[in-house]
Amino acid sequence: MTAPAPQVRPPVPLARWYAAHGRHHLPWRATRDRWALLVAEVMLHQTQVSRVRPVWEAFLARFPTPRDAADATLGDVLRVWGRLGYPLRARRLWLAARRIAACGWPADLTELPGVGRYTAAAVAVQADGSDLPAVDVNIRRVLERVCGRHLGGREAEREMRRVGAPLRGRDRLWALMDLGALVCRSRRPACDECPLRRRCRSRGALPPGPGRRRAPYAGSLRQRRGQVLARLRSERRVAVAELDPGALDSLVSDGLAVRTGALARLP
Ligand code: ADE
Repeated sequence: MTAPAPQVRPPVPLARWYAAHGRHHLPWRATRDRWALLVAEVMLHQTQVSRVRPVWEAFLARFPTPRDAADATLGDVLRVWGRLGYPLRARRLWLAARRIAACGWPADLTELPGVGRYTAAAVAVQADGSDLPAVDVNIRRVLERVCGRHLGGREAEREMRRVGAPLRGRDRLWALMDLGALVCRSRRPACDECPLRRRCRSRGALPPGPGRRRAPYAGSLRQRRGQVLARLRSERRVAVAELDPGALDSLVSDGLAVRTGALARLP
């Protein structure tokens, strides 16, 4: 007697997968407030969701509008930003808040400091109901695997519309983003669970491309800067002689610290 053929369930459509498995609980998905969404997108860049969540909540409790952030010092913003990392993001967000408080929201969000093509589109989609495709690193990985090749920027946006159809706007963004985070992971993709597996050319593999690796953190200037910033966040003024001079120099030149004589502080 021959063994019965293994049952391979047909893939469900992307929309059904998203309804059942999407990260609907993420707190920034429950708002249409532009500022709250801009803050979330800036924080989520290069940073894990679990680390962002408490800082996003604290940040919006302290700075519920761009005006609140604009009226604060950069030091206040950096204190709430805490250990989230890449603190230049906090400075650009504060500059963006000042610009919005002074002139209103620009029609083109890429005019704001620190806001690139992805962030502008992601905010417009989530806050304003726009249907623009917004391709972040997770979504790009999904699209490139489905297509079986690396994609240029505009090409990836076209593929996002095609692969994500019939979903649009927020649902398309969130469904593809969640698929990239939960199933089409960069390492060990779970192809058997993927709603796109029938149409996927690479089945989780990807032709080699210009991948970017993050430099090791231990011993890096990034770590040393983080240590100096932690001191400056917890004490109002610190003797320059007690701080790593190279890290302090680089923070001062980025506008993230101020040195007056023998003392250093947040701006
Ligand atoms: N929801 C909306 N934008 C997001 C992002 N960049 N990462 C994770 N979840 C999100």
